Amino acid sequence: MQAVTIEKLSKIYPGGKKAVENLSLSLQKGEVFGFLGPNGAGKTTTIKMLTGTLMPSGGACTVLGLNPASEPEKVHAVCGVVTEHAQMYDNLTGLQNLFFYGEAFGMPKDEYEKRARKLLEELELSEAAQRKLSAYSTGMRQRLSLARALMHRPGILFLDEPTSGLDPESAQNVNRMIQSLARDEGITVFLCTHQLRYAEGICSRFGLLEHGRLIADGTLEALGRQVFSGLTVCVRGTNISGGMSQPEKRDAVCGFTYRKTGPDQFEFSIGQEEEIPKLVRALVDGGGNIYQVAVKTKSLEEIYFALTEKGREVSA
Ligand SMILES: Nc1ncnc2c1ncn2[C@@H]1O[C@H](COP(=O)(O)OP(=O)(O)OP(=O)(O)O)[C@@H](O)[C@H]1O
Ligand SMILES: [Mg+2]
Repeated sequence: MQAVTIEKLSKIYPGGKKAVENLSLSLQKGEVFGFLGPNGAGKTTTIKMLTGTLMPSGGACTVLGLNPASEPEKVHAVCGVVTEHAQMYDNLTGLQNLFFYGEAFGMPKDEYEKRARKLLEELELSEAAQRKLSAYSTGMRQRLSLARALMHRPGILFLDEPTSGLDPESAQNVNRMIQSLARDEGITVFLCTHQLRYAEGICSRFGLLEHGRLIADGTLEALGRQVFSGLTVCVRGTNISGGMSQPEKRDAVCGFTYRKTGPDQFEFSIGQEEEIPKLVRALVDGGGNIYQVAVKTKSLEEIYFALTEKGREVSA
């Protein structure tokens, strides 16, 4: 069973705004999916439809086999949600907030008490456990919101910008936690974020939304191939250039275009990965001493800008 299926999902808000249009997508169990896109792209709207807080205008979706539109309570029981505006109680302490949700989820008292303390510890909130939420900073609130979402051991987590207000150390801690939830507990994660560097590190697959439409989805490598043709191979070594002393000129022996990028550093442009052994063999046969060979990968940020409209405008 897929963790999430989305088929031709659409949302038109009262007033006529088409926030999501014909969105089709699916997520495997245990996958950490990065849902990316500019402000107003429709990411939060999609999460709201998947978690049963907003009715779709068209199409259908399922979450762990359940239909959020017709059985929202069942969906709430299996999913954890962290949104920008988490519903928690300012006049209760951090611990009391978690106890409240544990009870609301029908967990036995001893279990929710143990779980709440463990989550507070994992999210480095133990010291603030007895403090009222009104005295929490934004980042502390956000971490408590994640703890709350995890109280009932959900099978799937929907995270809408979970690290936006966090300092780098807390963000790293939360990201590590997200990764280990997926890896060790098999939890599926649907993550909306603008923090592309973090997303690159923790997501196994990405979807890119723009004006409510999915413009691309796939692994980092697959997305990279959509916008950048060929591969760049960085080679460090001596006597590499041999007969190819003129930068930007084609090497007569190997037939690979190259660029000298530093002392003993070269960048070769090749069509596909399969050509790497051929390149290395040719360089060695030509008398080169190779110390390092690495494929230069494109970052998620570079790929994102190449795929999205703004990026295309800038580069045009
Ligand atoms: N309740 C609403 N009524 C009318 N229009 C709305 C409503 N909520 C969102 N929208 C509009 O729908 C579009 C998508 O909004 P949404 O919040 O889903 O975007 P987003 O991708 O989450 O953006 P952000 O990155 O800023 O969080 C926007 O144009 C927004 O103005
Ligand atoms: Mg949003």
